[in-house]
Amino acid sequence: MSLRISVFGTGYLGATHAAGMAELGHEVIGVDIDPAKIERLQRGEVPFFEPGLPELLKKHVDSGRLRFTTDAAEAAEFADVHFIGVGTPQKKGEYAADMSFVDAVIETLAPRLTRPAVILGKSTVPVGTAARLAARVRELAPVGGEAQLGWNPEFLREGFAVEDTLRPDRLVLGVDKDNPGRIEEVAREVYADALSRDTPIVVTDLATAELVKVSANAFLATKISFINAVAEVCEATGADVADLADAIGYDERIGRKFLGAGLGFGGGCLPKDIRAFMARADELGSGQALRFLREVDDVNLRRRDHVVDLAAREAGGSLKGARIAVLGAAFKPNSDDVRDSPALDIAGRLHLGGADVRVFDPEAMANAAAVWPTLHFADNAQQACADADVVIVATEWSEFRTLDPVALKDVVAKPTVIDGRNCLPAESWIGAGWRYLGLGRYSS
Ligand code: UDX
Repeated sequence: MSLRISVFGTGYLGATHAAGMAELGHEVIGVDIDPAKIERLQRGEVPFFEPGLPELLKKHVDSGRLRFTTDAAEAAEFADVHFIGVGTPQKKGEYAADMSFVDAVIETLAPRLTRPAVILGKSTVPVGTAARLAARVRELAPVGGEAQLGWNPEFLREGFAVEDTLRPDRLVLGVDKDNPGRIEEVAREVYADALSRDTPIVVTDLATAELVKVSANAFLATKISFINAVAEVCEATGADVADLADAIGYDERIGRKFLGAGLGFGGGCLPKDIRAFMARADELGSGQALRFLREVDDVNLRRRDHVVDLAAREAGGSLKGARIAVLGAAFKPNSDDVRDSPALDIAGRLHLGGADVRVFDPEAMANAAAVWPTLHFADNAQQACADADVVIVATEWSEFRTLDPVALKDVVAKPTVIDGRNCLPAESWIGAGWRYLGLGRYSS
């Protein structure tokens, strides 16, 4: 059945969700406070890089099933189901998440409701937020516009956002257990065409649903830092962390995914989510329970120090004047997102250390230049590597993984490569005469 849906927030999460809902057959209105963004989306343009999304968005803007507005009243009037998909970034100078965008959605939407509605939160929020927002909705909604609020965390990965939205591996739904209302029924209707008969549906209380999301991200971050901590020990002994990860990954209880050692995690979710989780636990008096996440964060950041130190060592002991190519700026491939990106962080630090840094990324150059306008950006990988003393592969884009080490050797000053993502075929590079340095694995 086709529903009328609004999605507040048109960033990675909101824009993908809005287009995904239209693809599932619903009539959708996307809402954002940024008029320039809304204008672009309304023209069928996606303001960020996400494979498959431009086609999906254009298809449904053209069909008229998807439109965008800055007017919350229009969305309140139009839709029966309202999704909250705005950002919850880390507060400046603090670990806690900034809830002002989520709060603003409720403050603008609730008083404008004209008929009973369901509000489903998707943003990643500190536990306790949904109950607080539900109470606020009860205060603000006019008579006749009573709304029920549920929490429906989103697990999409950048780079696979469309696939993850249209074929989620589970549906998690938090409801007020004392007053569940129609939320489950409505959510099942919303996602009917995205769920297979086998898709697990977990209906739980609001606090559990909020915690599911942050726990999932904390677990993923812990898994990455675990293997990066082991990588540090491998470096001290000459062992190979990639072989080790293969071997332990065959144990189904462990699994090979998220055991990729290298420069560690970044992006708009994992780093800020573990910090917000710690901050919230502190507030609740359970800070000790999550103290290990401090270590997870530290291990992760140490990988960046390690690569900066390696580059300085390979450049002859000092960064001053060394020509360094950094291949990659995005926090991971198939994304133009540079938020908390390990690649861009090390490029910036090498630059501040006095190196002559040349950066190239297939998609993230504009975003990278907005953060680091003083960095040099090259037009392609070869140009970034010209006369380089050290080449660092910092994001595992497939075009870097398949670089020809024989041809590239001719353009650099010194054939030294640091494989920051353990993504290169080491033997081919060594065979072509390169000094190859993996992270937590062998160096030639
Ligand atoms: C993550 C979660 O996966 C997703 O479920 C949630 O909704 C949002 O946060 P995303 O930030 O898009 O998604 O990226 P993800 O693919 O999880 O990668 C996060 C970071 O971990 C990247 O910087 C990546 O390079 C790094 N990573 C991942 C590793 O360093 N090693 C690995 O083995 C896997």
